[in-house]
Amino acid sequence: MTDPPLPAGPRPWWMDAVIYQIYPRSFCDTSGTGVGDLDGVRRHLDHLVWLGVDGLWLSPIFPSPMADHGYDVSDYCDVEPLFGDMGTVDALIAEAHERDLRVLLDWVPNHSSDQHPWFLESRSSRDNPKRDWYIWVDGTPDQPPTKWKAMFPVGPAWTWDETTRAWYHHRFTPQQPDLNWSNPEVEAAMLDTLRFWLDRGIDGFRMDVIHMIGKDLSRIGPDYADATDPARTHAHLRRIRALLDSYDGDRIAVGEVYILDIDEVAGYIGTGPEGPELHLGFDFVPHYLEWAAEPWRTHLAQAEAALGRRQAWPTWALGSHDIVRIRSRLGSEAKARAAAVLLLGLRGTPFLYAGEELGLEDAVVPPELRQDPAGSRDGCRAPIPWDATPLHGWTSTTPWLPWPPEPDVRNAASLRDDPASIAHLYRRLLATRRDSPALRGGDVTFLPADDTDVLAWERHTVDGDRCIVALNFGSTTRAFAPAGGPWTLAVSTTGTGEATAFTGSLAPDEAVVLRP
Ligand code: GLC
Repeated sequence: MTDPPLPAGPRPWWMDAVIYQIYPRSFCDTSGTGVGDLDGVRRHLDHLVWLGVDGLWLSPIFPSPMADHGYDVSDYCDVEPLFGDMGTVDALIAEAHERDLRVLLDWVPNHSSDQHPWFLESRSSRDNPKRDWYIWVDGTPDQPPTKWKAMFPVGPAWTWDETTRAWYHHRFTPQQPDLNWSNPEVEAAMLDTLRFWLDRGIDGFRMDVIHMIGKDLSRIGPDYADATDPARTHAHLRRIRALLDSYDGDRIAVGEVYILDIDEVAGYIGTGPEGPELHLGFDFVPHYLEWAAEPWRTHLAQAEAALGRRQAWPTWALGSHDIVRIRSRLGSEAKARAAAVLLLGLRGTPFLYAGEELGLEDAVVPPELRQDPAGSRDGCRAPIPWDATPLHGWTSTTPWLPWPPEPDVRNAASLRDDPASIAHLYRRLLATRRDSPALRGGDVTFLPADDTDVLAWERHTVDGDRCIVALNFGSTTRAFAPAGGPWTLAVSTTGTGEATAFTGSLAPDEAVVLRP
């Protein structure tokens, strides 16, 4: 299918969905390894149902030497033994589908592990048939082919390999050699890995650094910052999309196009002149926006315009396994609650990182316990505390990373028992979204900015369903009296859920959803 003009036409499931991101290593350990596993995900599927999300994205579950905790894949068509086996994943998919939860896998196409059999072959000799599946450049050990730097750890984007006396290219760690997508055999093999999971019933993929896959190897040299070639990436994406579209049930591609410019990112989403590409693509600018009305107003307008030009549907995420948690970034639970209203009130498909609904802060990770090759992402990968017992619903061992702060009170069981908790706020927001076609899929109109601290917008459908979302970014009470009332307070970050008449003011850090 092609993306329908918005908002008319039958709406595919992914436009209405809210997706919950699970980092399997940190979710729940059922096997006593100190690392989460797929049975841990199965065990807590009913938490997702209680919350009211529509699907889950699992960060990589494939066999991996774990140099980058799963983002270094040594077999795209199997399950990491720490996490389970094919039987576990089949059971997880089936049990999720029984609960009407879609399942997205994390596909890592730009690079494999250096332990992947393809790379072991490629590095074994210059005339190996898979030599050209990776990016090799001749030279001498003292001089990398270019000065390009890897994203992490700090160092060159090239590693010398003594066996064949050549350099191989990697945008990330030396254990993550970049695949050479210019070789049609690589594209064919990678599309086969998608087929493998589509045939098992997977509903779609989050595609890791997808904008990097297209490369023009003639750019390897001092005149270029890297070899990426957007035109080639677009061509690969159209073929990836065609494969997804050949399956029934709207299987989706959600791109991690990690470029901090929504105009550029939008070029990968929806339908371009030569055909459809990604269904959805994250906008990473919000991860770095100051928590104030004006920068958000400006960015949201820019994003609406950029995506509108492609008739592309927006995607929103405030956290992930790669960035300090929203609660820690904003510095208070009151602001984290307002962020929940923002995330679930915007026009688009929200992604919610596991633990945001518990208002978790980053764990403090002492240097001797650090795990992340990038050095900065352990805090947000701390284990999820499920209950108030000493091991918080994990099994017999200390988890691979320390607990986030206050696990005795800030755990799923305790918060589910407290109707005033942030977990219940998320649940109310998700329920309100489900009940409101305007909030789920309606157009957005930003209300005039007559207060520097208040950001508000109306969501509305052609059938006349309406609601207003408003946030007070400031630290004083603000009057807010939108036209077209009277309005009912459907959800407030400070309430416990009874619908009451809206009084026309917003407390400090308060955010609300109003319905007529
Ligand atoms: C993406 C992932 C990140 C990973 C990197 C390399 O940015 O989200 O966790 O380290 O790609 O695969």
